[in-house]
Amino acid sequence: MNLSRRSLLKSAAALAVFPTLARSAPLTLTAREGAQLIAPPGYPETDIWGFDGSVPGSPIHLQQGERVQRRLVNELPQATSVHWHGIRIDNAMDGVPGLTQEAVPSGATFDYDFIVPDAGTYWYHAHNKSVEQVARGLYGPLIVHESEAPDVEQDLVLMLDDWRLDPETAQITQDFDNGHDLSHAGRLGNLTTVNGAFDPSFPVQQNQRLRLRLVNAANARVFTVGLDGMSGWIVALDGMPLAEPIPIEDTFPLAPAQRADLLVDVLAAETASLFSQERDGAFGLARFVVAGQAASTPRAGVRPLPPNPLPELTDINNVPRHEMRLQGGAMRWLESARIGETELSGRELAQLGRFWALNGYAERPDDPFLDASPGSVHRIAFVNETVFPHAMHLHGHHFRLILPDGSLGPWRDTVLVERGETREIALVTDNPGNWLLHCHMLGHAASGMMSWYRVT
Ligand code: C2O
Ligand code: CU
Repeated sequence: MNLSRRSLLKSAAALAVFPTLARSAPLTLTAREGAQLIAPPGYPETDIWGFDGSVPGSPIHLQQGERVQRRLVNELPQATSVHWHGIRIDNAMDGVPGLTQEAVPSGATFDYDFIVPDAGTYWYHAHNKSVEQVARGLYGPLIVHESEAPDVEQDLVLMLDDWRLDPETAQITQDFDNGHDLSHAGRLGNLTTVNGAFDPSFPVQQNQRLRLRLVNAANARVFTVGLDGMSGWIVALDGMPLAEPIPIEDTFPLAPAQRADLLVDVLAAETASLFSQERDGAFGLARFVVAGQAASTPRAGVRPLPPNPLPELTDINNVPRHEMRLQGGAMRWLESARIGETELSGRELAQLGRFWALNGYAERPDDPFLDASPGSVHRIAFVNETVFPHAMHLHGHHFRLILPDGSLGPWRDTVLVERGETREIALVTDNPGNWLLHCHMLGHAASGMMSWYRVT
């Protein structure tokens, strides 16, 4: 039989007979090589790996409650997978090789299909050899819009990253398994970008209100972000609205994988900027070039974003508390730790490129850190025994920070635990499945800081 598409479309009867031919092809997300200008003008383009060949990869925008369907097509020379970071997702779609699916080999495909229950700023990224694949550019924004969005003139996604480029050729250095990086702060770059470009500029008008969706897509860098020539509020963290927006009076940290949604008013007459405060001074991340006035005065006040359908979490006083000790790294070298049930010395571990451990395991253990029944409430205390900060991330659930006074803080999916610090969180384990729990400094995850919990 040889039916042309046109003859099929002409006949409604044919459509009924061949319904699969009438269905539209699935949307694809192709992981492949690409090249783009990452370094400042005058440098050559950088070879990257990107979703649909660019960094960031194709943006995905949808409404709260909608369904995401994407066929991952792997055209890379390595196996890969996609993790939809921060989405309270169906476990089978979480994208973790060896836990929720097999890594997708070169030339193969995998169909992702899930509902997004929460509005907010999320992102997707490769979750196989992440320390390399994310560093090469395999990430993109996943934005879920509220049915009633706040009143703004511009809604901008700003994905922050840092790259380690050869200063001559502008190519990504291939030292992803560099033992010094792995055992220290992780792979820090020598060039920062926003949306894959160095020092980009955005046209704005004075007294415009902007929604800035900041996403830290860097391998290891904690950005300490600040605003110049703009003022406003943090209205959401890690996708989840704050019950009370926080006025931005100073710089604030954004750890790898964390997001912050800001509502800001442009006050500057010429240029406003987003900057990062580093030890040796502030440097600009992006510029907002003012042309004209949108109004004679900025808007007054802000309203919280509409809440997401998160579980009730109020009483955390009589619930089990689980301690997770973060161990190892430079200056606190592991004496020993386990891989499976085998106890290895620090020296043996270092030879395997393992420098960190979570509760004595230098690799995701066979048994889960926490075995929880659906709907139960748990506290987890991250005890940082190392001299480096770690960005601890739970898949599958958001949790609430427990503030130093014992009260409940914001909902998050990634918590920054500073050196020597203990941070407690509380969560309702209402999403069944096997969920990863790891440090989002990707070199730390690759060299030992990887665990998991189970909800059954
Ligand atoms: Cu964005 Cu397992 O992480
Ligand atoms: Cu870490």
